[in-house]
Amino acid sequence: MVPSKAVDSNLNNSITSLPNELDPLRIPTHIAVIMDGNGRWAKSKGLPRTMGHTAGVDTLKETLRLCSDWGVKALTVYAFSTENWSRPAEEVNFLMTLFERVLKREIMSMKSQGVKITFFGDLERLPERLRELIAEATKETLSNKGINFNVCTNYGGRRELVLAARKLAEKSVKGDLDPSSIDERMFASELYTSEIGDPDLLIRTSGERRISNFLLWQLAYSEIYLTDVLWPDFDDHELIKALADYQSRLRRFGGLEPTQSQQL
Ligand code: FPP
Repeated sequence: MVPSKAVDSNLNNSITSLPNELDPLRIPTHIAVIMDGNGRWAKSKGLPRTMGHTAGVDTLKETLRLCSDWGVKALTVYAFSTENWSRPAEEVNFLMTLFERVLKREIMSMKSQGVKITFFGDLERLPERLRELIAEATKETLSNKGINFNVCTNYGGRRELVLAARKLAEKSVKGDLDPSSIDERMFASELYTSEIGDPDLLIRTSGERRISNFLLWQLAYSEIYLTDVLWPDFDDHELIKALADYQSRLRRFGGLEPTQSQQL
């Protein structure tokens, strides 16, 4: 069913109501997305790969809007991995310029729509102009109370774990921390996601079946939804399909279903 649009008088913005087939009480709190297939999408249309990334931005904007409208509290997307530097310089430069252009264009609308944007990753290596825009967007939206939009840029899951281990080791060496007191909670508090928690649902597009160094710690118990659809084609119908699939699953976190427990 195509979701209907309604006017939200507070924001004076069009919001899309939740489709009937989705249960409002079982919307995932945190969704993570590996936005894959931009290059193949462009190639299939005889376009340069870079056009796939530009189209991917439109999909991302729409996904963010729908997640916000439907009550998702956090959306974390993989925009650029620590491995993506190995792509041709022309494509890397295009992506950096695209991030700058999109951020510059969207800061004010994210601010007014309550989106809180945060960047996960090693930002030091990014071009200076992009770092400035990241700092500005983060600051401008810091006190927003709407959806947390986390953009993983020069992000690697292993690197995040190493940095967390390093921070704990430094505290121990200083005498501020007893190593035997380190537990999962303390470790998680050193990760980028310390304030938002783990994703309930991971979506990966384009038919790939890997985690690709994304949120290695945080995905431990996430439900995984894989689709052959290429990211620029991942529209509202595809998002509804992913959410309906998520809602059809029983999350046991390693335990048993209540009926199985009764059979013991
Ligand atoms: C993977 O497709 C996609 C990327 C490496 C870039 C994703 C970035 C965006 C959608 C733009 C996001 C913008 C902002 C401002 C956050 P691919 O190039 O690996 O596609 P392929 O597997 O078909 O080659």
